[in-house]
Amino acid sequence: MMKPIKKAVFPVAGMGTRFLPATKANPKEMLPVVDKPLIQYAANEAVAAGVDTLIFVTGRHKRAIEDHFDGAYELERELEAKGKQKMLEVLKGILPDHVKCVFIRQSEALGLGHAVLCARPVVNDEPFAVILADDLINFAEKPCLSQMVDVYRYQHCSVLGTEIVPMDEVSAYGVVAGSEVRPGLMEVSGIVEKPKKEDAPSNCAVVGRYILTPRIFDLLESTPRGAGNEYQLTDAIAALLKEERVLSYNFEGRRFDCGSKLGYLKAQVEFALEHEEVGADFSDFLEELAERREKVVPLKKNA
Ligand code: G1P
Repeated sequence: MMKPIKKAVFPVAGMGTRFLPATKANPKEMLPVVDKPLIQYAANEAVAAGVDTLIFVTGRHKRAIEDHFDGAYELERELEAKGKQKMLEVLKGILPDHVKCVFIRQSEALGLGHAVLCARPVVNDEPFAVILADDLINFAEKPCLSQMVDVYRYQHCSVLGTEIVPMDEVSAYGVVAGSEVRPGLMEVSGIVEKPKKEDAPSNCAVVGRYILTPRIFDLLESTPRGAGNEYQLTDAIAALLKEERVLSYNFEGRRFDCGSKLGYLKAQVEFALEHEEVGADFSDFLEELAERREKVVPLKKNA
């Protein structure tokens, strides 16, 4: 019997330079999509999949993440005194009571592989999940990690969340090669970090969702620096699949790369349109905006 997935690791030590100046004093994982920070979507996805221990691998200037998942006694008392019950429930609903948060400092930014290895003392010898909060995944029926846990329960091995991306974009991802087990599920035979388009084994890209067996920790210990002179999780997975079965799973849902401005803006629009409080009004606004833009006559240059 394989152990259930109870722990999830959130590497959140990155600097977020692509969003400066917004991320100068504020962690990028705290950027909101409508009314929830990215890291809360990630935490909620883990909890929905059965995880009860959230392990945040943090760095300098990331205190806001700890505060977000901590109780807020004064704020709660004030909301209570003012009878703002709904807001109080929103605060209390950030995480269910049975979920524990653990914070580990990654004192040097040495890469994703190094960040995951920092979680070893808390994960120990259990299989676990890794979620990159930058990759926000919207879903129709089941969140991405829950879909992957279903695969893990049935297949008893490491599972990588993947997506087919345009060939021109492969160099931004870990890319897998393998043979199909059934549509959307592949037995991985190779994985490379950020290959050039001409060297890529496929256009099946790893997104920020992983279920890994604890063997990965030993392999991370012995993996040398890779792409970008960083310790890459991808390289340790390449070593893992020589010893164990690793599957890649094309999840159902829509992923937004919230590490990029355009991806983040698209996420805002989609999540705003689906938001129960503002969705209908926002949709009206977008229609009105589209009409207004059609009517605008472009200025003639040199007229
Ligand atoms: C990381 C991983 C990469 C993966 C990507 C998904 O890269 O190293 O393998 O495909 O996340 O978002 P990063 O985007 O942090 O450079």
